Amino acid sequence: MKRIAVLASGRGTNLEAILEAVERGSIAGEVALVISDQAAAQALQRAGKRGVKALFINPRDYGGREQYDRAIVDQLKEDRIDLVALAGFMRLLSAYFVNAYPMQIMNIHPSLLPAFPGLDGVEQAFDYGVKVTGCTVHFVDEGLDTGPVILQEAVPVIQHDTVETLHQRIHASEHRLYPTAIDLFCREKLKVEGRRCKIID
Ligand code: GRF
Repeated sequence: MKRIAVLASGRGTNLEAILEAVERGSIAGEVALVISDQAAAQALQRAGKRGVKALFINPRDYGGREQYDRAIVDQLKEDRIDLVALAGFMRLLSAYFVNAYPMQIMNIHPSLLPAFPGLDGVEQAFDYGVKVTGCTVHFVDEGLDTGPVILQEAVPVIQHDTVETLHQRIHASEHRLYPTAIDLFCREKLKVEGRRCKIID
């Protein structure tokens, strides 16, 4: 069984979807740890309710990004984590963190990368006027939303969409896609060659 850590700063609906998938048996792994950089993150409560170990690690207790990331990596090692899933974790990871878990850190982003990376991916796509957007699960490298793509799902932009309605549909899509990608990792079905991530059948 792979041991998964989820890092989240906010609402944690993706965390919830992952926890539900684990409970249903749709992910061949277990969520062993949830970490947040925000004391009030709903994600911590969601984990707590399901009896999952949940820690707030306060960036203010550390001198900078790398020191903070060292504290997180120490915790991940202590909990023998195999996969780190970022789910709305609003911090760029240092080279130290990325190198500690090469191709073992995933992120979900609310656009079809490489379009609209960074903050507000949904709003950027909406304002640009694209007719199709979606979400992307990718491995994390040192760049901003630049690592190898694992899975993507398209979401059409419809005539009367607002940023909010579009965001809701993208969220629903994320909640399907992220558990699927995590399960593929847990079953050792992902193989990265250069930028390309292959799914082994
Ligand atoms: C998601 O839209 C995800 O794409 C982005 O952050 C958001 C997290 O949402 N990286 P939630 O906290 O899981 O509800």
